[in-house]
Amino acid sequence: MSKNLLIVAHVPSGNTELMVDALLQGARAGGDQQVIARKQSAFNTTVQDVLSADGIILFTPENLGYMSGALKDFFDRVYYPVFEQKQGLPCAVVIRAGHDGTGTQKAIDSILTGLRWRQVQDSLVCRGVWQDDFLQQCRELGQTMAAGVGSGVF
Ligand SMILES: Cc1cc2nc3c(=O)[nH]c(=O)nc-3n(C[C@H](O)[C@H](O)[C@H](O)COP(=O)(O)O)c2cc1C
Repeated sequence: MSKNLLIVAHVPSGNTELMVDALLQGARAGGDQQVIARKQSAFNTTVQDVLSADGIILFTPENLGYMSGALKDFFDRVYYPVFEQKQGLPCAVVIRAGHDGTGTQKAIDSILTGLRWRQVQDSLVCRGVWQDDFLQQCRELGQTMAAGVGSGVF
């Protein structure tokens, strides 16, 4: 049976859009045909989307020392409705931060601990001036996530 890998993202810039496309590209390469990977705006992601996900990648820029309002809105809307059913959900976090990222990482870690979702690797924080290598890092994370979800290792 196929598995669903959902990328929940807020992409306010060309660079962040490239990063999320790279996550999706990696996910599609890593999961063979057993994994259906798709990306979705955090604002448009519903409780049902989360309930039907077998793994989630969360992507946000850091703005004003915190995650984007869009990702916060996502957590606010889904937190209690998915709480019981999605404990243990494998997830990974990617943060694009112009110069820091720690406030966002800390806040997301705390919410994920509350939700009891399972981060399968350390958060990827792409910090500082733009580097093309961020795209390779995103591809690799997407690939790892899809391979783990597809094989059931996660
Ligand atoms: C209103 C605003 C607030 C920001 N605040 C932070 C911040 O607190 N920490 C940080 O590391 N970067 C901050 N940035 C930079 C963004 O993280 C960065 O521009 C964003 O991730 C998009 O990446 P890009 O500039 O490569 O497209 C801020 C950007 C904006 C527009």
